[in-house]
Amino acid sequence: MKIVLASDHAGIEFRSQLATAIEAMGHQTQQVGAQTPEAYDYPDAADALVKVIHAGEADLGIAICGTGIGISIRANRHLDIRAALCTTEYMAEMAREHNDANVLALGARVIGIDQAISICKTFFAGKPSENPRHLRRIDKLGEPI
Ligand code: RB5
Repeated sequence: MKIVLASDHAGIEFRSQLATAIEAMGHQTQQVGAQTPEAYDYPDAADALVKVIHAGEADLGIAICGTGIGISIRANRHLDIRAALCTTEYMAEMAREHNDANVLALGARVIGIDQAISICKTFFAGKPSENPRHLRRIDKLGEPI
């Protein structure tokens, strides 16, 4: 798969370590967002990630900031983006299966890199459910308010 990783300044090192691990899993990666330790606004990193997905250059995204909260809030402003902030493998599995999440959000200051790698593996392996009740709910997520 093609994976785009985005982060603000708080997630640069984490993003780079994760990209290396994801490449080792056999996927292609692209990194966007902060390139230096200077303060970089997480909404801009979210928008950069979404741009790559919209261009069809990535199948899934990984959005990283200090907590994973700010970047996921911004990513979810885009109606076709379903960003799920996960701290466990179970959350990552459910995010794919029940929510058809297309972006995994992670907190670089919340979980360790080994846990993040494990969560990514689970997320990539997850299959969206075809159950009509899940599909109905996912359709509702994309409805404008
Ligand atoms: C940056 O200091 C921090 O606020 C940001 O990375 C993130 O945690 C916001 O949600």
